[in-house]
Amino acid sequence: MNSVTVFAPATCGNLCVGFDIMGLCYEKVGDKVTVTKIDEAVVKIESIIGGEGIPLDPQKNTAGIVLLELIKIEKLSFGFSLKIEKGIAIGSGMGGSAASAVGALVGANSFLEKPLSHEKLLEYSLVGEKLASGSAHADNAAPCLYGGAVLLSNNEVISLPFPKEVFLLLIHPHLIVKTEDARKALKPHYFLGEYITQSQNLSGFIVSCFKNDLELMKKSFFDVLVEPSRAPLTEGFKECKQIAITMDTLGHCLSGSGPSQLTLCRSEEQAQNILKEFESIYSTKNIALDSYIGKINNEGARII
Ligand code: HSE
Repeated sequence: MNSVTVFAPATCGNLCVGFDIMGLCYEKVGDKVTVTKIDEAVVKIESIIGGEGIPLDPQKNTAGIVLLELIKIEKLSFGFSLKIEKGIAIGSGMGGSAASAVGALVGANSFLEKPLSHEKLLEYSLVGEKLASGSAHADNAAPCLYGGAVLLSNNEVISLPFPKEVFLLLIHPHLIVKTEDARKALKPHYFLGEYITQSQNLSGFIVSCFKNDLELMKKSFFDVLVEPSRAPLTEGFKECKQIAITMDTLGHCLSGSGPSQLTLCRSEEQAQNILKEFESIYSTKNIALDSYIGKINNEGARII
């Protein structure tokens, strides 16, 4: 067979308190990338469905550029043609640029005589992230590739044992926030007190995963560094967060740089109830909303 299709899931970069160093893999929503091996050592993007404005030029496309890099560095004598089906909206905060790149790499890897490790594929995927947002952060690509919740520590991907009982509510209000712009919105300097609170919250969150301690998770799921600067970019975020706190969820945050948002829920029933409230907020604002309720996806990108 000279063609494979990969499902590359959406992800939540930052996972609230781990700016650029934590992420989580969602179920149900993602991109599909069909990779076909071709004789010439080039990359051709045949079609992109559902991604209006995404360039077909492989140099300007995250899936294309990572495969060009793969061909160059691994000195491949063959190339790839791609068909991309975007299930993740552009500028949604669900890791769409990383998903297409990871999907392409996982597909291409299946044609290599000696398939590369996840570590190596992650390195290639960062070329795509640099192209998409000007910064080579791995907090979307790593959870997409490895699945689950991950922590990036000194270039190592550490899987976090995320509590199995937690339901994830993901909402995507139809707004666009470009990661590049959301990065420019950040303050260049922070107070020591803010850094201390964020360190407490990050360490508390990580410990809560290892101890399966939901109350510690709830106390720790507050981003005092990045979210205050980005909240104004996502209309309705503050209201949603207030509701999530009032209704005793385990936490609410921007998914990546927004406008999508993740709520950690204690049960599926709680997720359904919160969703009704969020729908009412966005319908008052006349902003369309997509939503997904599910568990963490421990599998990551896979050939289907
Ligand atoms: N860590 C990146 C950011 C992720 O927040 O800018 C974007 O998905």
